[in-house]
Amino acid sequence: MKILGLCGSLRSGSLNAAVLRSAAELTLPPRELAVDPGLDRLPFFDADVEQTALPAVVAGLRAAVGAADALLIVTPEYAHGTSGVLKNALEWLVGGGEIAGKPVALASASPAITGGDRARAWLAETLAAMDARVIPRELRIPQATLRITDGRVTDEPTRAALAGLLDALAHAAEAREDRGSLAS
Ligand SMILES: Cc1cc2nc3c(=O)[nH]c(=O)nc-3n(C[C@H](O)[C@H](O)[C@H](O)COP(=O)(O)O)c2cc1C
Repeated sequence: MKILGLCGSLRSGSLNAAVLRSAAELTLPPRELAVDPGLDRLPFFDADVEQTALPAVVAGLRAAVGAADALLIVTPEYAHGTSGVLKNALEWLVGGGEIAGKPVALASASPAITGGDRARAWLAETLAAMDARVIPRELRIPQATLRITDGRVTDEPTRAALAGLLDALAHAAEAREDRGSLAS
């Protein structure tokens, strides 16, 4: 069970990167969670470049998504939406089609009491347009500076909710595999 984690914040002290770090630590064999470190190296999406000379970093991202059984996407909220970093990555993934049908779990952390709700809603709409299977369970972390310290989720109820989200994502991926093997 391979889960690919994508984080929409490039900030070194990112609360959302901390969520992904804790998610990786909570993921035990036979599950594994790898974090894609390449989003900061993606050029801005350009359909001409996509048609003529696909950058290696884009091909790498598409391959990583294609090889994953499921995705965990953590997003900051900027101006009531997701980050440009994530939107750009998703634009590169549209043409590849690797995300279609793939289970995706969403999480967001924000210092605000709204917990990034608008960013997740925005992201869910984009992912639905890409035919990704966003699972119904999500994780919102409001007042995240109180629940995340030293780069880790330290608030126990939030850690439990994160573990629950990972379980729900893994179950969605297993159910998809079962349907695939029944069909073949
Ligand atoms: C340009 C900018 C816009 C922001 N807009 C929002 C917003 O609309 N809603 C919100 O909850 N937080 C907003 N914030 C606060 C971010 O949620 C906060 O900086 C958060 O820590 C960013 O995520 P990160 O810690 O993973 O980098 C904004 C921050 C910046 C710098």
